Amino acid sequence: MSFAPKALLYSIKRDRVEREITAPPSSEAFDNPGKLIRTEASARGAHFYFEQAELEINFLTEDFVQIDWKPGIPPIPYAIARQDWPQLETTLEETGDSWTIASVGASDGASTGATALSIKVGVDGSLRFTDAAGQILRQELPPQRKDEGWIHRAQLRPEEQIYGLGERAAPLNLRLAKETTEKGEVTDQAKTFRMWNYDAAGMYGPGADPMYICIPIYLGLHQQGGYLVFYENTFEAYFKFEDVATADFLGGSLRYYFTAGSPPQLIERYTELTGRSPLPPRWALGYHQSHWGYRTEQAIREEAQAFQARQVPLSAIHLDIDCQTGYRAFTIDPERFPKLASFTQELDEQGVKFIAILNPGVKYSRQSNLFLEGQILEAFCRFPNGDLVVGPVWPGWCVFPDFTNPKVRKWWGRQYEYLLDVGVTGFWHDMNEPAAFILWGDRSLPKPTQHFMEGRGGDHREAHNVYGLMQAKAGYESLSTYRPQQRPFIVSRAGWAGLQRYAWTWTGDIECTWAALRQTVATVVGLGLSGIPYSGPDIGGFQGNPSAELYLRWFQMSTFLTFCRTHSSNNVENRTPWTYGEPYFTIIRQLLLLRYRLLPYFYTLSWEASQKGHPPVRPVFWADSTDPALWGVDDAFLLGEALLVCPVFEEGAHSRQVVLPQGRWYSLWDGAPVEGPGSVELAAPLSQLPLLVKAGTVLPMEDQERQQLTLHLYPPVQGSSESQLYLDAGDGYAESRLDRFHLQRDADTLELHWQEQGDYAFPYPRIQLHVHGVELQQAWVDGEQITLQEAMIEVKKFQHVRFTLG
Ligand code: NOJ
Repeated sequence: MSFAPKALLYSIKRDRVEREITAPPSSEAFDNPGKLIRTEASARGAHFYFEQAELEINFLTEDFVQIDWKPGIPPIPYAIARQDWPQLETTLEETGDSWTIASVGASDGASTGATALSIKVGVDGSLRFTDAAGQILRQELPPQRKDEGWIHRAQLRPEEQIYGLGERAAPLNLRLAKETTEKGEVTDQAKTFRMWNYDAAGMYGPGADPMYICIPIYLGLHQQGGYLVFYENTFEAYFKFEDVATADFLGGSLRYYFTAGSPPQLIERYTELTGRSPLPPRWALGYHQSHWGYRTEQAIREEAQAFQARQVPLSAIHLDIDCQTGYRAFTIDPERFPKLASFTQELDEQGVKFIAILNPGVKYSRQSNLFLEGQILEAFCRFPNGDLVVGPVWPGWCVFPDFTNPKVRKWWGRQYEYLLDVGVTGFWHDMNEPAAFILWGDRSLPKPTQHFMEGRGGDHREAHNVYGLMQAKAGYESLSTYRPQQRPFIVSRAGWAGLQRYAWTWTGDIECTWAALRQTVATVVGLGLSGIPYSGPDIGGFQGNPSAELYLRWFQMSTFLTFCRTHSSNNVENRTPWTYGEPYFTIIRQLLLLRYRLLPYFYTLSWEASQKGHPPVRPVFWADSTDPALWGVDDAFLLGEALLVCPVFEEGAHSRQVVLPQGRWYSLWDGAPVEGPGSVELAAPLSQLPLLVKAGTVLPMEDQERQQLTLHLYPPVQGSSESQLYLDAGDGYAESRLDRFHLQRDADTLELHWQEQGDYAFPYPRIQLHVHGVELQQAWVDGEQITLQEAMIEVKKFQHVRFTLG
């Protein structure tokens, strides 16, 4: 079916209605706030009244501050998860031709009396941020009001690196991104990043901008320290990082948040504000298989059986739009899925979850019940004249639920119930930027489209970027309501700040090239630094058929990402771990088996993400943000604190250069140590990517069949270290436990102390300890000497193990 005629009509109509937008009032525009007239201290900070603007500074904690420039439409708190902040003390002082506002001590009541973060407010409206150590972290220029929006600028230091902005197909350090010409030639112009969630279909390789999830957050790292800025503004915006960082918002007020500290501290604060990812069901950390082309129950049954027959682990199958009736939302074709409830049960018994796609567009037809229900509830977006906004998507002409209306979210949420009842486990929200088919121009709803905006009213210019976020909220709340004992699983293509509270994401319709594979590291790490811990690419790329080697190398990388899913387009071959035969299949199977053995580690990282917001997949500089050599590294990543993962991006490569953070690192494959910091060349045969374990780690691996937990001990060079293991039933909300492993290395001994906490019974009857990188002589478990089997011992639960070293 060709969508071109509908796309043509839609593009014409969109342009016409957009031309009708009345010009914004220009009376409020100014180049600077004017002079400071009056200052007033307030409970958490101060108000500053300028000739043309008002500035309000509120400290949320001693190192976290909200800054609000007015006028402008105040934001609806879509991003915000926390509103109540503990009492704290601030000071306001006149300091020559400026004012200094500062937080005092710690916000937990244990005030130290010392200044924690101070902001010098110039009489011209410039702001300077200084940390507790007196280091200047950021200098902002007086903001400028333009039409209905704001332009905000800050000086960047020459060495300063910038990360974030949500999902980007750019280098991790966004300052390195350059504009390309239409012919694809790279210029020396700094890249302008657009904030406007966008269906990047058919055009997405390195350099594409914008993408599906745009978030106005960035981290700055320089010689003086690190900071994070988050603009709570959903309007379209343009960001550029030259000598000056520019954020140009087309609407809204200029409300933003600033915090200072190391990268983990920054993300902790940001996710305290915008929320953290709840612990996912454990199965979600396994392998997912998907293809746009699985049409029938039988086809999926055969796919699942093929995994079983080859002993390849599989946790979920994703059903794309072909499973639907006429591509309609909340349908699964009963002819092609005649026994859905028993089929999902059959899959479940094999440990495979059924994940169904869901697009927001509702078929515009009186034959569609969903349409009729939505009409009665006035659920769909309309133009200012009251006409429905109708646009082409997969089902043909579609209308679009207004997810900024709580009543609509509730109605939409009710629709999941019957699919949950037949055993659909999770949902894959696609096309929710929202996307519409066009022949030119913007692939979304016309900007004058009206939205409820929680009752305040607004148009698509403000609602666009939170559309997918609010759909995810509707889905998440529905799954929590209808299946309160199971943890919701939703994957959402679009989102905004706070998406992590509701959904995972994947990186969309990526090209099938080596460059796209390499790009993925920066994209996924950048998402993590923007608060979104669960993401991953379509393994092998979406558009195109990868070579066997490219698929394998892609798999090698994705084995260590949180979301590990093969997916491919309907115009390319279905690809599975065995598609390319040997030696590829055996290598991929081994990788998957390794991933499943590492699930206790992945799951512990998920728990940490739920507690602190730290993404499991981290930039290498997370290990030591004071080492400038690590700041720009985006060809490797850390999986938690323990693993340094170095994927291979070059066809035919047998080795690669690896930039090491300080300390000793051991190869996971053979235990060989390398010493950081510095750069080393490491072997990368087809069967292996360089995979290093940090000295001091206790790495848990499980063997489900043998009900055995192996603790791999990588001794610290000297002194002590601690590792954690989080365990629970893997789903639901019952008991949990946290095991802490303390390693102590002295000249000729290695000791391991085990401390347990929590009510969940330890599930492994068998435990193995495997010591790497040192020679063992003797071993004592809780004071009793036991026999060594090379570097291994078999034990039951213990409190203390002591090894003497050779
Ligand atoms: C676009 C999505 O990005 C892709 O993953 C999916 O296969 C197609 N829509 C078809 O539903």
